[in-house]
Amino acid sequence: MLRHVKRTRKRLHVALVYNSDLGTGQIAPEDRGSVHDLRIMIRRMARTLRSVGYNVTVLPLARDLFGFQRKLRRLHPDVVFNQYDDVVHGALYEMRLAAVVRMMGYPVTGSPALALGLTRYKYMSASLLHGASIPIPPQTELLERLGDVDRHKRAFPLIVQPGQEHAGIGLERDSVVYSKKALRDKVRHILHEYNQPALIQAFLPGREFNVGVVGGHRLRVMPLAEVVYDLPDDIPPIMSYAAKWVETSLEYQNTRVECPAQVEPELARQIGVTALRAFRAVSGWGYGRVDIRLDDEDMPRVLEVNCNCCLDEGMGLARSAERAGIPYPQLLQLVVKAALEGPPYDVDIPMVQPISRPV
Ligand SMILES: Nc1ncnc2c1ncn2[C@@H]1O[C@H](COP(=O)(O)OP(=O)(O)O)[C@@H](O)[C@H]1O
Ligand SMILES: [Mg+2]
Repeated sequence: MLRHVKRTRKRLHVALVYNSDLGTGQIAPEDRGSVHDLRIMIRRMARTLRSVGYNVTVLPLARDLFGFQRKLRRLHPDVVFNQYDDVVHGALYEMRLAAVVRMMGYPVTGSPALALGLTRYKYMSASLLHGASIPIPPQTELLERLGDVDRHKRAFPLIVQPGQEHAGIGLERDSVVYSKKALRDKVRHILHEYNQPALIQAFLPGREFNVGVVGGHRLRVMPLAEVVYDLPDDIPPIMSYAAKWVETSLEYQNTRVECPAQVEPELARQIGVTALRAFRAVSGWGYGRVDIRLDDEDMPRVLEVNCNCCLDEGMGLARSAERAGIPYPQLLQLVVKAALEGPPYDVDIPMVQPISRPV
């Protein structure tokens, strides 16, 4: 007798993890994205991941790490989709979720902990890129004491920012300095207010690009996005805190992103290659966004690598991907695929013992 065996392909189980910690007290504008908008984004992502056939469990993580680990172990997903965006600033905390999940033996989307931690320390990643012969802005230096300002002579203008921040934090109208006195004032401000060393670099006056990259072993560059500033001369053309978050500011209202950017093919190729090399150099994986600016000779130089950059629909990377003919659901699929491929040299050895074991 013929027996018909119905073969059903197992659906991939994705645990979508995000930071649900509302924190206490007032929420800063740069964190609103990590709290309210994040919830909406997570819902949208879950829906999109389901639409391409995955089983999705949304798993919030606030402060109960042990509870989280218990739940994750019970779910035993095929892959963890990492949307954990820590709201604690000036820290390496972004890397923690990736580290914990890998220690539990599950594949995780995006970059490994090493890359996430490293790229939060701007001087460390700039030094690494420089060591790999990837162009960065000249005169890149980390000033840890006010006295370092007098260490040697420098050419101006310079840009000064906190060495361990992101999201435009600490970037203001006076962040581009034209004199030693202004440099000293700004460095003092950063050391005291942010309790961090100050990163200084030559201020590059050229065009600025956000370069999206997607994929695992086969990493692709997305169509370039250009940041276009239309600001009066006394406001520096930079993605400052105001330009990013303060909707009523002149900076916000006169800064826009053009995607795809109008760039001649040879320059676009150079920018793309630089972005790919930079992403690989910091051990980035899966998806990311490399910020690049041209110097006065139109040479692309890397400002920073954003490893687990924003993946929201219609924004940044997702918008660039759409321009490349990759709709949002397919982008998320590529991110999951890259996670399953796993970064090279990664070993799959669970190291965290089951928590519920009897003592
Ligand atoms: N060396 C530089 N020259 C010119 N502009 C810069 C330089 N470094 C940073 N900027 C400007 O500051 C913005 C934010 O810097 P970035 O290092 O990307 O920090 P963040 O993590 O805050 O995005 C950039 O998008 C760019 O506009
Ligand atoms: Mg940036």
